[in-house]
Amino acid sequence: MISMELPSRPELFDFRGVSMTHFFTDNWENVQNFKARPDDVLIATYPKAGTTWVSYILDLLYFGQTSPERQTSVPIYERVPFLELIVPKFVPGLDQVERLPTSPRLIKTHFPVQFVPKSFWEQNCKIIYVARNAKDNMVSYFHFDSMAMIEPDPGDWNNYFQRFMQGKVVTGSWYDHVNGWWKKKQTSPNVHYMFYEDLVEVAVLQSLFLVGKRITGGVQFDKMKKNNMTNYSTHARMDFKTGSFMRKGRVGDWKNHFTVAQNEEFDEDYKKKMKDPTLQLRTDL
Ligand code: A3P
Repeated sequence: MISMELPSRPELFDFRGVSMTHFFTDNWENVQNFKARPDDVLIATYPKAGTTWVSYILDLLYFGQTSPERQTSVPIYERVPFLELIVPKFVPGLDQVERLPTSPRLIKTHFPVQFVPKSFWEQNCKIIYVARNAKDNMVSYFHFDSMAMIEPDPGDWNNYFQRFMQGKVVTGSWYDHVNGWWKKKQTSPNVHYMFYEDLVEVAVLQSLFLVGKRITGGVQFDKMKKNNMTNYSTHARMDFKTGSFMRKGRVGDWKNHFTVAQNEEFDEDYKKKMKDPTLQLRTDL
């Protein structure tokens, strides 16, 4: 890990109806004016839904054969820059995108659908959205916020549990995020809506039957966890003393965190917020 003083944690505030910190809004005007190219590929997710995994799969698919040196020399967060991220002393995500030597450019965002720069829609860019079930997403986010110093302090689990349901975490409400993108997908054929749980299922099946080894071998959880180019170990804004970026990579880990009472409260609230019967996320495999 690069040794560097960790910054103090930022405050959460309401930004156009979505909870954010200034690390994701300070570059707002420039990001909104971003000029997409028609072959740009946008990877959009709510934080901790499997962004890095899908980024790595796409990077291997596009460049694994033609630029094998990327695999050992460029960390995944540089291969696939985070569009709206702007942190002092680091090159803003937007500038990283502008400097990308690749074609297509793979670009990451955690924006809710209404924040996506309009150029992506005008240029008909391919957009991959990944959703993960809310319970595991919440658990993963809680652990991440404990170790990522650019995030607001997560507090204890009970407190975080309530805040997640209220949308008081960076990027706002999980419910609004997945629903907003799902709605958009109905009218935008360029949005490919995927599920983390399906990827886990496919990965398990593929490891059993050893199919498509060139891609699937390297993107298995254990391999990515050991790979310094994908496990974020070179990232200066993470405190690896408190956790690991590649934490568990499972479906159903929420059962190790939710109490029975929390689970009931959560399910009750979920029904009220997730009214569209066509959007189903699996909390178990
Ligand atoms: P956990 O904290 O549940 O382990 P993001 O990249 O959006 O930040 O998402 C991180 C989550 O995706 C973490 O979840 C991480 O372990 C999981 N993940 C990353 N690579 C994975 C893989 N190859 N297989 C399964 N899960 C993976």
